[in-house]
Amino acid sequence: MAVSALETQAKPRVVLCARGLRRDFGGFTAVKNVDLDVHDASVHALIGPNGAGKTTVFNLLTKFLQPTSGTITLMGTDITRTPPDRVARMGLVRSFQISAVFPHLTVLDNVRVALQRPNNLSTQFWRPLSALDSLNERAEQLLASVGLAKERDHIAADLSYGRKRVLEIATTLALDPKVLLLDEPMAGMGQEDVSVVSAIIRDVARDRAVLMVEHNLSVVANICQHVTVLQRGEILAEGDYATVSQDERVRQAYMGTEEHH
Ligand SMILES: Nc1ncnc2c1ncn2[C@@H]1O[C@H](COP(=O)(O)OP(=O)(O)O)[C@@H](O)[C@H]1O
Ligand SMILES: [Mg+2]
Repeated sequence: MAVSALETQAKPRVVLCARGLRRDFGGFTAVKNVDLDVHDASVHALIGPNGAGKTTVFNLLTKFLQPTSGTITLMGTDITRTPPDRVARMGLVRSFQISAVFPHLTVLDNVRVALQRPNNLSTQFWRPLSALDSLNERAEQLLASVGLAKERDHIAADLSYGRKRVLEIATTLALDPKVLLLDEPMAGMGQEDVSVVSAIIRDVARDRAVLMVEHNLSVVANICQHVTVLQRGEILAEGDYATVSQDERVRQAYMGTEEHH
């Protein structure tokens, strides 16, 4: 016991682990030999050129796609054959997976709806009389934590694009995921929203793991502790941003192309 406690302290825990992940589509191999360790309390970026296999890896991890071979472990449990809804209930949640924003509802009601999902209410069964109060309290807390408190009574459809994405993240956080997967969370956002969402993601990752596909390399440099670079379905490089961005093969495959934009 004492030994394992020490180990936990010494090294951040791997909460999501993939080994030898492979996915074929007919004769085409979209993902192969992918080993991934996603650590608790960190932001991990998955980057690489278009078609590298990033979305396929996300689909494999969330079990939307079955791997052709390889294994996936979530907090020590083998989930390679586990259906996607169970994996989500176990705490591995992708941003748009369950958290559709209802355009005609207010910001607050969107979060309340998300909080009333079965897995959330089940944690409150022991105090049914105060359940509604605690739901409202939790909804307000969530909105405050993502900076949406002022917009609580706004209709979701009236929010700017960036604020809608923030609301989407809030409804995902309502599920209290242990591992949060975000596929291009900053896509289509202006610089101001990018800064806001970067801060939210950094904050969110204080007590959970975030794995994100991100094209904006300054975001990756600013908020991601781990970077995995994919190319043609395989891992080209990994490490912290400084290490990866200095890798000559990465510069050629990815960074090099960015510089021409
Ligand atoms: N369902 C599918 N059927 C056939 N090929 C696919 C399918 N999904 C993805 N691919 C192919 O796999 C490769 C990786 O795609 P994807 O994971 O979407 O890349 P990325 O997200 O990095 O841009 C691409 O060549 C793509 O055409
Ligand atoms: Mg993609």
